[in-house]
Amino acid sequence: MVKALVAHEPESKPEVVEVELPVLGPGDLRIGLAAAGVCHSDLSMTNGTVTPKFPVVLGHEASGVVLEVGSAVDDIEVGAPVVLNWAAPCRRCWFCLNAQPWLCRRVEKTVSTPGGKLADGTPLNLALAVGAFAEETVVPRWGVVPLPPGIPADVAALMGCAVLTGFGAVRNSAQVRSGESVAIFGLGGIGLSALVAARMAGAGPIVAIDINPEKEATARALGATDFLLYDDSLPKTIRGLTERRGVDHAFECVGRPETIHTAWSSARRGGKCFVVGVGRRDQAVEISALELYHYARELSGCALGSSDPDRDIPMYCSMIGSGSLDLQPLISHRTDLDGINDAFDRMRAGEGLRTVVEFDAEGFR
Ligand code: APR
Ligand code: ZN
Repeated sequence: MVKALVAHEPESKPEVVEVELPVLGPGDLRIGLAAAGVCHSDLSMTNGTVTPKFPVVLGHEASGVVLEVGSAVDDIEVGAPVVLNWAAPCRRCWFCLNAQPWLCRRVEKTVSTPGGKLADGTPLNLALAVGAFAEETVVPRWGVVPLPPGIPADVAALMGCAVLTGFGAVRNSAQVRSGESVAIFGLGGIGLSALVAARMAGAGPIVAIDINPEKEATARALGATDFLLYDDSLPKTIRGLTERRGVDHAFECVGRPETIHTAWSSARRGGKCFVVGVGRRDQAVEISALELYHYARELSGCALGSSDPDRDIPMYCSMIGSGSLDLQPLISHRTDLDGINDAFDRMRAGEGLRTVVEFDAEGFR
């Protein structure tokens, strides 16, 4: 039995309980968790925005160490440090074969997978086939990306979701170029990753937007040239910062209809708006037919930052190793499993940056 944070049903407060791990299959790995980031999508699984099967072990952004290897796995050993990969492409579906592994059919269907049991024998599910808010988990071999030595467990965890999604949105989806203007709405782990990527791409101006004024210092330290508090008149203010045009690229990293609309309206004629945030099924974004024609903008959903984790995580590791990418400033709080509900409270209030859950994993190099 291991300790895990389980959501028993929608709209209920998740609880730390003892759970029985899934049986290790021939193609599986047992992972001892080292660190796990608390992502808004974890909260979204408890409030009806995203609908996993319940009861479910939450958590999907994590690093760990291989504790046990299934009999059919021959390319990874006990002791190897890994990033857990909730978006592992199958490499066989139409999307994978046509160079869009982030749209993989298997990933699309995997909100949760059956795995493990509660103490009373009730079958359990793992969020995004990972279930990272637990001392240990069991995942398929393809559910991890091996890490080179020397990457700290906390930043390794962030690579599993915030960086793939936020950094990828700027680098892969938008392919932001030097000198292009960018606006980023929502400065949580995802938006801040996008901000770091925009700075590294040489973008400017980089306008960072949040409802929380306390985010200004972090945003500026990470490369924002301007910080604005969210309100409906932002498009006008942003045009004032961009020679009256609007930005080349707007990134919505909140997941709400009003911020999507405002981000879209902040892009220049012919500019692009990327919806990185995950909104609710029952909330619509309304755009006037005339505006849609007149502004000739692109409005694009942005799944996993158009990332291929097997390609991009090693690249981020090299950038961390060479000192060009520093993810530590994205982490504001550290806690144990019992502190995750407090991290959710901070998230509801728009406070703090990434909270990282730290485990006593032995052997993480
Ligand atoms: N305008 C601007 N910022 C806002 C607004 C708003 N109207 N409402 C909330 N925010 C800010 C919050 O203050 C917070 O700083 O958005 C940020 C969201 O941060 P997190 O809750 O940490 O979310 P994060 O994990 O970054 O995820 C962002 O991407 O992957 C999706 O499901 C995820 O939809 C979520 C989004
Ligand atoms: Zn996430």
